[in-house]
Amino acid sequence: MTKPRPLVAGNWKMNGARASWKEAESLAGLLAADPEVRADVMLCPPTTLIAEFAQGLKGSELLVGGQDCHGESSGAHTGDISAGMLADAGATAVIVGHSERRADHGETSEDVRIKAAAAHKSELLAIICVGETETERKQGEALNVVGTQLSGSLPEKAQAGNTVIAYEPVWAIGTGLTPTLDDVGEMHRHIRSELKGKLGEAEAAGIRILYGGSVKPVNAAELMAVTDVNGALVGGASLKAEDFWGIVSVYAEK
Ligand code: PGA
Repeated sequence: MTKPRPLVAGNWKMNGARASWKEAESLAGLLAADPEVRADVMLCPPTTLIAEFAQGLKGSELLVGGQDCHGESSGAHTGDISAGMLADAGATAVIVGHSERRADHGETSEDVRIKAAAAHKSELLAIICVGETETERKQGEALNVVGTQLSGSLPEKAQAGNTVIAYEPVWAIGTGLTPTLDDVGEMHRHIRSELKGKLGEAEAAGIRILYGGSVKPVNAAELMAVTDVNGALVGGASLKAEDFWGIVSVYAEK
């Protein structure tokens, strides 16, 4: 079976201002200069920058995504952004269910499922995040917790073309810690097998499962080489084009 084309997505979180365009521009330049990169590459800047980035990146290989969306398409939800608005601004994807949203905004897997379905309705790729806490891992519950999050967060119309799963252990995000390669492999295998049970063999084989949590240029090659790891969701190391390129270039032809 052919492997899905990897995706390396940068999650800028609440970082970046208009002056950060230079990072996007230089990343797009690096991508254009290296036609052998065998991965999709995406930046998910804060919402304020999406339209400008998408406009500036027209014709470039670099994709633009959002970091969250509301489950409804419009209405009285002050401060929220719909999937349709992201698409209108030029995004082609949106991250949903990031652990920071689950923790800071009390988002449940049911909320995440509704958001992912809204993303699909607006023809956005939904990047659905799952991951266990440190306590859950220590208690031996990591596989169970992630399996439950996955089945609760996966919308009905999930397919390889519209859905990406990002496994991000909460304790590895922004800490410099990463699971062992065996633990990453075990979790990704588990996610793939859960997807098979829900979507069937062919669809599940095509879904990209990203690893996220302290991915850096120094550890990217070994993490990306793990079976069933189809790319990365990168926070801190995606803010500077040079660092992010150090991760993306794992997928460049040598
Ligand atoms: P990090 O964040 O790479 O800074 O650990 C990853 C994420 O939260 O997506």
